[in-house]
Amino acid sequence: MDVDLSDEELAENMKEREKAMKRDWTLQNYTDYLRADVAGMAIERTTKNGKFVWYDMCCGKFMAAQDLVRALLGVNDLSTISRISARGVDILAEPGDKEILPGVIISRGNVVNYPIQEGVDLITCHAGLEYVQKYTGKAYDAVAHWYNSLPIGGIIAFDVPISMARELEHNIYRHLKNPADVRLISLHAGKFYSFKIEK
Ligand SMILES: C[S@@+](CC[C@H](N)C(=O)[O-])C[C@H]1O[C@@H](n2cnc3c(N)ncnc32)[C@H](O)[C@@H]1O
Repeated sequence: MDVDLSDEELAENMKEREKAMKRDWTLQNYTDYLRADVAGMAIERTTKNGKFVWYDMCCGKFMAAQDLVRALLGVNDLSTISRISARGVDILAEPGDKEILPGVIISRGNVVNYPIQEGVDLITCHAGLEYVQKYTGKAYDAVAHWYNSLPIGGIIAFDVPISMARELEHNIYRHLKNPADVRLISLHAGKFYSFKIEK
C-alpha cells in the first residue's frame, strides 16, 4: 500500500491487480446491502425540497443510477427526473466528467478527497471502501470527509467487509467531530457490514 499514489498510479495499480472486481451492482443490490431506499428518497426529496443530490463513491459503472432513472421513468413524470442530480465518483472512470444520462454524471476522482457540493442529500458507497483501504489506507479519512461535507438532514450509507467493520466503527467515532447519529444498521449475508449515518 502506498498512501501517496497519484490518481493515475492508483488507477493503474487497481486495474492491474483487481481484474475480477464487480463494478455493476444494481440499485436493488444497493437497497439490499446498504438498506438505502434511493428511489424512495429521490421521490421524497424532490417532492419536499425540489431536488435530490446523490453522490455515489466508488461507483463503478454506476448501474444503480441507471436503474434509478429507469425506475422513476416507470412511475413518475419527467419533472422528478429533471430534479435529480446523481454523481458517481470512481478512480477507474475516464478522466473528467461524463454525463451518461440526463442528470447522471460519472467523474474520475479519488473518493478520499473528491469535492462534494453543498446541499448533498445522500452519499453512498457500496463495496468500495475495502479497496480504498487496501490501496490508500484512507478509508476512515474518506468517511470523515463525506461526513464533514454532509448538511444537516443528509445521509451516508456504506458497507465494508466484516474484517473492517470493528475498526471502522471505532475510527468513525474517533474521526468525526460531533457525530450526530452514527448507527450500525445490519450484518448482511455474512459478508458485508452496512453503516448508515444520518446528520
Ligand atoms: C467492487 S467495485 C464496486 C462498484 C460499484 N459501487 C458497484 O456497486 O457496482 C469498487 C470500485 O471502487 C473503485 N475505487 C476503489 N478505490 C477508489 C478510490 N480511492 N477512489 C475512487 N474509486 C475507488 C474501483 O475503481 C471500483 O470501481
